[in-house]
Formats: sequence, C-alpha cells, structure tokens
Amino acid sequence: MARRSAPSAPVALIAAPDPKPGGTPKPAAPLGGLALGIDVGGTGVKAALVDLATAELASARVRERTPQPATPEAVTETIARVVGRIAMEHPLPEHLPVGCGLPGVVKGGALMTAANIDPFWVGWPAEERIGAALGRRVRIFNDADAAGLAELAYGAAAGQAGTTVMLTIGTGIGSAVFLDGRLVPNTEYGHLEFHGRDAETLVSGAARERRKLGWKRWTREFNEYVALIEKTMWPDLLIYGGGVSKEWGKWGKWARSRAPIVLARYLNTSGIIGAAWAAADAERRETSGRTGPAASGR
Ligand code: BGC
Repeated sequence: MARRSAPSAPVALIAAPDPKPGGTPKPAAPLGGLALGIDVGGTGVKAALVDLATAELASARVRERTPQPATPEAVTETIARVVGRIAMEHPLPEHLPVGCGLPGVVKGGALMTAANIDPFWVGWPAEERIGAALGRRVRIFNDADAAGLAELAYGAAAGQAGTTVMLTIGTGIGSAVFLDGRLVPNTEYGHLEFHGRDAETLVSGAARERRKLGWKRWTREFNEYVALIEKTMWPDLLIYGGGVSKEWGKWGKWARSRAPIVLARYLNTSGIIGAAWAAADAERRETSGRTGPAASGR
C-alpha cells in the first residue's frame, strides 16, 4: 500500500523502526461487505457506508453541522438525520455493523471525558441511546482510536511492528497507539501536561489559530510536545492526521522528531472508515467467541 511520506526528512536519530520488538504483526484477516461509519466532531457530524474490502465509501459522505450546544440528545438527533439521509439512497440491512466515533474516553458504552463536547455526555449511555435512535446495534469508539484503526487496517500503520503513535491534530489533539498492530485504546495524549497546561490548549490546530501563532512558531512548540511523548514512550513511527496534517506543506519543513513521521493516508474520512471497520471487527470477534474486542476500550 503506497505510503505518503513526510516530504521533508525529519531529524531521525533512529532511522527505521526496529523490525522485531514483537515480530512483524500479522495483518488482521481482511473484512468484507459494508459497514456504516459515523464521526462526531466539534463542527460536523459525518457518516457514510464503507466498503470494508477497499476502504472506499459506498455512499455519499453526508454531513450536518454539530448542534450547539452539542448535548447528547441534540447530537443523537443529528446522527439519526444523517443516517436517515443515507438510508434514503441505500437500504441499510438489519445486521449492518454501525460504528460511531466520539471525542472522549470510551468505556462501557459511554464517554468518560468530554473536553471538546458538551459535559452532559459524561456517563450518558451513548451506545444504548444512539442505538435506540437508529433502531439498530451501534458501537462507539474514541474518535482518534477510530481514525488510527483506519490507518491500521488500510493505511500508514498497516503491518507496522513496534510502537506506533498517531496524533490527530485539529480542534483538540487525539491519539491512537498501536503496539505490534494492536490498539491500546483511550491514550489521550492531547491532555499531557505541557508547559503547565493541557497540551491541546496550546498546540492543537484550534489553539494555533486562537493564539495567532505563525506556522513556524507553532511547529517549534508542537515539536517540543512530540519530544515529550517520545521521551516517555519511544515510538518507532509517528503518524500525523487531522485537519492540521492537511497543511503539512506549510509546516512539514520544520517538523522534528526522533521517530520517522508519515502523514495519515485518510484525512476527511478516517473517522468514518475507522468507526465502520472497528464495528465490523468487534462484531467478528464477538461472533467468533474471541475474548475482548480489540478496539472498543471496554
Ligand atoms: C479528547 C480526545 C479526542 C480528541 C480529538 C480530545 O480533547 O479528549 O478523546 O480524541 O480531543 O477529538
């Protein structure tokens, strides 16, 4: 699979990922058929049907603005409308896997944190209520974990041995960590303490705009934040995704890290593709009786 490499070489003290920390991961057996992916972000609620054999969208990508305030009930109504619009064009089979990415820690079918979404989400039974609104089983995932799973299944993290850290840089900073191809869910590196603050309040894309930082100045701070991550866990590969990674041409030349950097393969659609894949993967694990879903963080 073609990998989009960072155009300018970052400083790499270790040039290549160690090929055998735990052996090269076997790629998960490919999934086929369709699944529905939903991605709830700070500004938009997006959904599409995904062809799991190819990661291509099998329907239009339908988007509506995230209601403000983004209360659980209001967002759930929006999700139902977005999915209803897809259903007008494509029949949605009864047992279609449905995954939904949400911007917070996911445990037991609910959000445990809500940094960039209404606080009423914390503890609200999201999986159950969104499922009830759609009249079908829904599985929820952390949004960055979902985006990372799209890269694991089809993109920049596929077949990657060792420790991979993906950062989604946008309104907040999300993280997905893989060890030998297996997700360690809910890592939340956007909330590391950085200069005495919550990191994402200083170096997310939204923070760059709010602080009116030019790209060079912001990249210098972002590099420092990445160095903090590298100091504590020595990743073998860094993947940058989210809205700010689309602007790589404006800041890539200053990006520095110990591990090699690659850009995410999927940008606008990673949350949708990953949520769809994760739901189908969880269902496969449950029906084959294997213990513990790999991705859902339960
Ligand atoms: C949340 C994460 C989320 C990230 C990106 C952070 O504020 O805590 O769970 O992945 O924003 O949306």
